[in-house]
Amino acid sequence: MSRMEKYGHGGDLVTASAVFGVSEEQWIDFSANINPLGPPEEMKTVLKEAEKYILHYPDPVHRKIRQALAEKNQVSPEEIIVGNGAAECMALVFQAFRPHKTGVVQPCFVEYTQLATLYGSEIVTVYAREEQGFKPELEEVHQLIKNTDLVILGHPNNPTGLVYTYEELSAFAQWAEEEETMVVLDEAFLDFLPEVGPTLLGERRKYPHVLFLRSMTKFFAIPGLRLGYAMGDERQIALIKKMQIPWSVNGLALAAGEACCHVAAYEEETRQLVTRERDFLRGFFLELEWEVLPGQANYLLVRLPQGKRSGDLQLQLANRGILIRDCSMYPGLTERDFRIAVRSREENNKLIQSIQEIAEEW
Ligand SMILES: Cc1ncc(COP(=O)(O)O)c(C=O)c1O
Repeated sequence: MSRMEKYGHGGDLVTASAVFGVSEEQWIDFSANINPLGPPEEMKTVLKEAEKYILHYPDPVHRKIRQALAEKNQVSPEEIIVGNGAAECMALVFQAFRPHKTGVVQPCFVEYTQLATLYGSEIVTVYAREEQGFKPELEEVHQLIKNTDLVILGHPNNPTGLVYTYEELSAFAQWAEEEETMVVLDEAFLDFLPEVGPTLLGERRKYPHVLFLRSMTKFFAIPGLRLGYAMGDERQIALIKKMQIPWSVNGLALAAGEACCHVAAYEEETRQLVTRERDFLRGFFLELEWEVLPGQANYLLVRLPQGKRSGDLQLQLANRGILIRDCSMYPGLTERDFRIAVRSREENNKLIQSIQEIAEEW
């Protein structure tokens, strides 16, 4: 593992500065997948009044934000739990269900296996098929659901950007019910897709073993504030809530999140920008004849030509103040793979120019 990825996540500017000697403020960060628009104006107003929200204890049962999220997602407040990032919700799911065996499809977000290990769960792995655009064999997912107590599937998956079809999601949910296995659909990046992408959320009542995990930190560009939520069957959500310590979500995050429930124009602008800029970046890599997956989220997985290493590209870009995610440590990927976030046109152009220079030197 490179020294940069030692904590397993993108967006780690403190480590990046220590490893590459670039000050934290100077990075253009393509390693974390955060909305390049920055937070919506409505949220900035909340931040200006921060004192109001930090001088009192936050609501321990998150009433206002759950109500706002319930309206936004057309579910009931009892079907929602709010957490200190989607990461907290994920950890609470492990605490609530204590799976003996956890199923994952690699490559996937590192936290799935880290949490399984933390909570003493055996990990059962299926590998996505590279020749099928990194989709797993459906029958293998079926077996995974059959042979485990909990399966976590990224949708879109990180780092591939892969999205399942509605039919595939329905099959997973059907198998979850047949086998009574909890299936967590990690939809942390789903909001970035046009029209919020395919989701089974509307049919959640048919599938009480399926949980829907969402993150507000990425889409609303508040990773430092931390906010996420999970949705699903009322009884399952109640079990998960029992595991949460009081006030794990701070008052400022709750107020900011509530404000973010009413920003439809910002959401639309984000989706248009991400679609446009992702196509722009993808076009660049295709022209360069580097392999790039047709991911549908706000990031792209790219493969360097034979003989090149993403760790070297990371270093050379770091020398220019640009941080990318080396993906060589993901099971199922190679030392030629790296991930970049989709950012603004100005920043994307800087990345493109730097990569062009490096490719010419090679
Ligand atoms: C796929 C995926 N799910 C969940 C999370 C956690 O999101 P949050 O910042 O809301 O805890 C991340 C963060 O990188 C992620 O990549």
